[in-house]
Amino acid sequence: MEEFRLQKFLAHSGIASRRAAEDIIAEGRVFVNGKRVTDPAHKVTLKDKVTLDGKTVTITRTRTYIIMNKPLSVLSSASDDRGRTCVTDLVKLDNVRLYPVGRLDYDTQGIILLTDDGDFMQRVTHPKYEMPKTYEALVKGEPKEDDLQKLRDGVELDDGMTLPAKADVIRFKGPNAVVKMVIREGRNRQVRRMLETIGFPVLKLKRAAIGGLEIGDLRPGAWRNMKHSDFEDLFGKNEARKMKFG
Ligand code: URA
Repeated sequence: MEEFRLQKFLAHSGIASRRAAEDIIAEGRVFVNGKRVTDPAHKVTLKDKVTLDGKTVTITRTRTYIIMNKPLSVLSSASDDRGRTCVTDLVKLDNVRLYPVGRLDYDTQGIILLTDDGDFMQRVTHPKYEMPKTYEALVKGEPKEDDLQKLRDGVELDDGMTLPAKADVIRFKGPNAVVKMVIREGRNRQVRRMLETIGFPVLKLKRAAIGGLEIGDLRPGAWRNMKHSDFEDLFGKNEARKMKFG
């Protein structure tokens, strides 16, 4: 069962910031299972009875799950030593340290998830789950069926053969085309490299969905907390119910 430092437990319950929680604990106002605890690092689980000034403290939120439309020219990391804006800079939440779930290139826009839940992160990004990700790529030129078939069969890249992808042209734009691709891997710059390899360099790239969770009408830079239906879209109804994410 998940363990929390008492200080974090109080902060998560919404009673106080972590700093203020430390003072409240030091003042001797917090009891765990009937015993006064003054050490903010004391470990508690959801089974322990925690009281503050005699009133039971419950955790209303333990983890945070966010869906964001990453704008162009923003890094999909939690920090940058060159001072560039990161996706985590766009979300200001007290007491939560968020991490991006997987990567999107600096010059790619679209859906990215952020969380402080390592299990959720694994479930979405670990290659063994083959989570589908849908991209729309504006490419130079007009791929024909036999070009698209190469993507569907798998493409030899310098780091090996890709899994078969779904690939269709969904629009033409002058001499160029928009290719919708669904891949089940997360290699570095994979969509760009696959399309480049078959002779259609990417001019613009957007990620439209992860699993069945679409970016919808969230504008670039906007974000919201994930709802239960978002977990269903991501993992399917049955798994979402069992997993108790959200
Ligand atoms: N493939 C790419 O080429 N870039 C991304 O950001 C994601 C997938």
